Amino acid sequence: MSKVGIGIGLLGMGVVGGGTASALSQKRDHLADLVGCPVELRGVLVRDVGKRRAIRLAEGMITTCADDILLSPDVDVVVELMGGQEPAFEYVMRAISLGKHVVTANKEVMARSGPEILDAARKAGVRVLFEAAVAGGTPIIAPVMRDLAANEVISIHGIINGTTNYILTRMEQDGADFGDTLEEAQRLGYAEADPTNDIEGIDAAYKLAILATLGFRSRIREEDVYREGITRLTARDFQYARELGYTVKLLGIATADVDGVQVRVHPAFVSADTMIAKVDGVLNAVEIQTDLAGKLLFHGAGAGSMPTSSAVIADIVEIARSLRGGGAPPPMPRISGDVRVKPMSELHTKYYVRLTAADHPGVLAQIANVFAQCSISIVSALQKWRDDDNKLAEIVFMLHPSSERAMQRAVRQLAALEVVDEVSNMVRVEEW
Ligand code: NAP
Ligand code: HSE
Repeated sequence: MSKVGIGIGLLGMGVVGGGTASALSQKRDHLADLVGCPVELRGVLVRDVGKRRAIRLAEGMITTCADDILLSPDVDVVVELMGGQEPAFEYVMRAISLGKHVVTANKEVMARSGPEILDAARKAGVRVLFEAAVAGGTPIIAPVMRDLAANEVISIHGIINGTTNYILTRMEQDGADFGDTLEEAQRLGYAEADPTNDIEGIDAAYKLAILATLGFRSRIREEDVYREGITRLTARDFQYARELGYTVKLLGIATADVDGVQVRVHPAFVSADTMIAKVDGVLNAVEIQTDLAGKLLFHGAGAGSMPTSSAVIADIVEIARSLRGGGAPPPMPRISGDVRVKPMSELHTKYYVRLTAADHPGVLAQIANVFAQCSISIVSALQKWRDDDNKLAEIVFMLHPSSERAMQRAVRQLAALEVVDEVSNMVRVEEW
């Protein structure tokens, strides 16, 4: 530390970086009290120095050259808030090799390269904290790594993408249009730079890979996560869900049993009277079941400038305090376990299927026969909507638990039936 106080270098000053810079300035005295010395912003890396920023920065503070931050002797903690894999990963690794502590909100980098980063940090004797990478302002990484350290994680069920939860809530409650709601979420700063990452479940898969890696203490890669987005859901799926006593959420689910772990992100019917069904808008919720602590629910803002900056600053304070303390920083965790990741075909759950079929005698029998041949038992069938011109009817089936392998076979066989016009959607029904 060449100057008095703890020096912060920000890589990125967009939605989260802007919030972090503002909060560091507004809460200067409170943070100095917490840490025991000033916590000062000493440099900011951006792409375009001409852009309007959330706060006015002192002359010479803003740069487009990463080395101005990474090599600065005045920067003790590098805070990466750029997003994307590169050059963010390279900068994080360089910061570590230069002996700087790192805070990042980057779920992509932590999902793809987290174990390497933590390994490098352990060897360099520095800390890398990433609370904001999952569930924005809602504390979840620190609880899993610290407070639940003595536990075995049995399952994780989470709403871990605020943008899609915002879209699904508006579609359910206001019958809103998908595209308009996505634009709203982008305007509000919730969506990723490329919203495909949100709506296709990629962002949630990164976050689930991080949580499952920490929870199961084994490396779970983002490509291990089975993934479906929300783009197939229509207003009618929401109507049927409501009628049947459910709501539709994009869930990240990680479960462990003696055969291995299963990690998946997809839309799911969840019973309307559960707590997670009531998590609306940009809010996130993560329910974790463990052997010692039982079931825990973490609930709060999952995105947005100030909530996310709250998590970033908590990590900065944690590092700043240990720097002030003067002792060796606590070592970064080792991700050394090796678990089998079970394929999706081994899933066993209930299903909702919506299809359009010819509306004449014997059609239902043919469809029921496909389910019977695939050993899938029907709970109920609903026929609500008819297209009289084309003599088509929409039929919704709720199905008893069966294997995903059987269900996928049934969907293929149904789609091949001459009397079936289209299998419009198949949604898993989750109870835990
Ligand atoms: P953002 O608004 O797009 O801001 C990105 C910032 O990084 C901008 O200031 C940009 O510079 C700078 N930047 C990007 N690439 C750069 C490069 N190659 N060189 C120099 N500067 C570069 O993104 P954000 O929403 O703040 O997200 C930042 C990170 O936080 C991401 O990892 C995101 O996943 C994560 N996160 C976001 C939220 C949220 O609610 N937004 C919540 C949790 C976590 P310019 O300003 O000059 O373009
Ligand atoms: N786009 C992300 C979301 C930001 O909507 O949850 C927070 O990671």
